[in-house]
Amino acid sequence: MKIVTAEHIKSVTKLGDCPKNDRLEVAFIGRSNVGKSSLINLLLDRKKLAKTSSTPGKTQTINFYLINNTWYMVDLPGYGWARVSKKKKLAWSEFVRDYLLNRKNLHCLFILLDGRHEPQSIDLQFLTWTIEQKIPIALVFTKADKLSRNQIIQSIERYKKTLLKDWAFLPEIFITSIKDLRGKDDIIRYLGSIYPV
Ligand code: GTP
Ligand code: MG
Repeated sequence: MKIVTAEHIKSVTKLGDCPKNDRLEVAFIGRSNVGKSSLINLLLDRKKLAKTSSTPGKTQTINFYLINNTWYMVDLPGYGWARVSKKKKLAWSEFVRDYLLNRKNLHCLFILLDGRHEPQSIDLQFLTWTIEQKIPIALVFTKADKLSRNQIIQSIERYKKTLLKDWAFLPEIFITSIKDLRGKDDIIRYLGSIYPV
């Protein structure tokens, strides 16, 4: 699949304000600062379409990008951002939860993980919740440029081992880096298998 056009359509903070659910979509989630917005820009070949920041908590809305005039890519706010107030955190989880549970056209939720750390309970809890809710997921290990090949393999094995304690299967797994473009073609190919255009 070739990304020909990518345009920002809308940013919302409640399910009711999302665009009509008549187009398939994929969304990106993960801890704050894990690299969701950066990965979207990498996949779309646009440097600044999705707003990125070295400070966690940059993306606080659900952002819709229309791809090839056909389907949506969605940038979600990160979870586990310590510095937002309790009230704001709750509002975050409510509207994102609402989106994840009720968005009928959500075809794949990419869960981004930082391979530099041991499996974190917040990530594992979130992963388990998506499985329980039957949300289709794929895993992405980001910032691979910060790790050696060996460390990446070890990190993925750690997650696999932890996940296989509870699950009989593993989702699709990708390794990415915005520095050396790793994983870009793999994810684009995967998206091409979902969307023919
Ligand atoms: P929130 O919107 O705050 O939840 O964060 P996010 O997950 O969208 O992260 P974002 O894309 O804004 O990136 C956070 C920081 O990580 C930025 O400083 C990026 O430049 C950096 N970053 C993202 N991807 C990579 C990567 O593959 N390698 C390296 N070295 N840095 C990266
Ligand atoms: Mg972001």
